[in-house]
Amino acid sequence: MEEAGELLRVSGADRENEIGGIVDIYQRRIGGPALLFDQVPGYDPDYKVLANLFMSVKRIALTFGLPESTREVDLVGFWRDAFRNPPTIPPVEVETGPVLDNVETGDEIDMLKIPTPRWHEGDGGYYMGTAVMVIMKDPDSGWINYGAYRVQVHDRKLATVMASKGKHGDQLMRKYFERGEPCPIAVVVGVHPAIFSVAGLEVPYGKNEYDLAGGLIGEGVRVIRAPKTGLPIPAEAEIAFEGFIHPDDRIDEGPLGEWTGYYSGGVEQHPAIRVETFMHRDTPVLTGCIPAVPPNDDTFYRGTYRAGAVWHEMEAAGVPEVRGVWAHPAGGSRMWLTVSIKQQYAGHAKQAGLVASQCHAGAYANRVVIVVDEDIDPADIDQVIWAICTRSDPGEDLDVLRNCWSTKLDPRAYPAGAGMVNSRMILQAVKPWSRMADWPAIVRSSKQLDGHVRGKFAKYLPADF
Ligand SMILES: Cc1cc2nc3c(=O)[nH]c(=O)nc-3n(C[C@H](O)[C@H](O)[C@H](O)COP(=O)(O)O)c2cc1C
Repeated sequence: MEEAGELLRVSGADRENEIGGIVDIYQRRIGGPALLFDQVPGYDPDYKVLANLFMSVKRIALTFGLPESTREVDLVGFWRDAFRNPPTIPPVEVETGPVLDNVETGDEIDMLKIPTPRWHEGDGGYYMGTAVMVIMKDPDSGWINYGAYRVQVHDRKLATVMASKGKHGDQLMRKYFERGEPCPIAVVVGVHPAIFSVAGLEVPYGKNEYDLAGGLIGEGVRVIRAPKTGLPIPAEAEIAFEGFIHPDDRIDEGPLGEWTGYYSGGVEQHPAIRVETFMHRDTPVLTGCIPAVPPNDDTFYRGTYRAGAVWHEMEAAGVPEVRGVWAHPAGGSRMWLTVSIKQQYAGHAKQAGLVASQCHAGAYANRVVIVVDEDIDPADIDQVIWAICTRSDPGEDLDVLRNCWSTKLDPRAYPAGAGMVNSRMILQAVKPWSRMADWPAIVRSSKQLDGHVRGKFAKYLPADF
């Protein structure tokens, strides 16, 4: 990242508020550098914190070995193709690696020596796990799952994990508890960003995230077996710990400022991790991927993935002629989806909108789906607004779906308490099928005229629009 001019080093910011305050400022605009903090007051000066990892299209492209010229819309195609034919290379087990530079057990364990920041002033504690892999094993099949579930550090050897209802981590934990057994767990922070990024993607139950991460980076991820639990941990990780979650062992957790831009969660009881082994490199780097008012680091990189995944799932559901999908960053890359289609029949646009809002990759916490014609670039919000203003009639083209899959992090979800749902709008901002033949001509130069003036007057004309 540094060689590509994508890294800014910051020395001397404290972990209480200053690191988080600096990260928050950089997160307000897409395209800022990754931030590497050292000399954190009160801590080993060589222990570092790295944040704002994915808030740049160039860094996302670098992560996946794509050319520097990659544009945000190209990433949508990258993810769509990855879902059509997932690249997989299995992990490679090795005996040792840098994560074992320091191994602490029993009373030696001291996770508080890592300068874990309070990321936002209103946070209820210190979150070591944001850019995190939480690893668990299915006790029946042996399937290994890893996901990004937030991890708060409470004490030298006590942490909590918060996996939302229905997420794989939550399902696996329950399997152990139903047998009255403790759930083995490993938490890893600081890995190749491609390995981490897969933790935040909805990889189907039974599929190994390590296989996909290996496929994306082009070589198998080297893993060691954690000493107590035997769970596979990337050998090159910066920081890792393992331990057990015991049935009914829950403590207060939170709040953490979340990806919808609100403290919607509050303080709640969540599973406690009793840490048995703590491992780290000699000079570890804690990585952070911080939620905040979107666009934020937590959700921005997942926008192109979500668009690609929704596109793939719409095609798999039989919706023809999908020409583009966009998950707008300001909607946390979930709440606003725009899909572009080349209309084939009356009702096609409504079908596209409904499927986008309900397919697996699009359904959770969505609020708005806009369907546009193929001449509209779904990633260009000006074009989308123009389509809404000129091609839709709310009385005819707006549907509201009630009681859809949501989360308490959505501040308008209902009812209060367990099992929260939301409503969402599906707007067809397409030329009405019945008026296609007499739809007015659009006031824009033809492709021929464009090509002609660009060729003849190139030195006067902007190349980028
Ligand atoms: C930075 C980051 C933080 C996340 N935090 C949480 C969290 O605290 N709890 C949660 O359930 N999901 C969280 N997610 C979303 C899950 O990681 C995502 O839904 C993933 O697919 C879960 O893995 P699974 O499909 O194996 O359950 C987070 C994602 C990212 C990228």
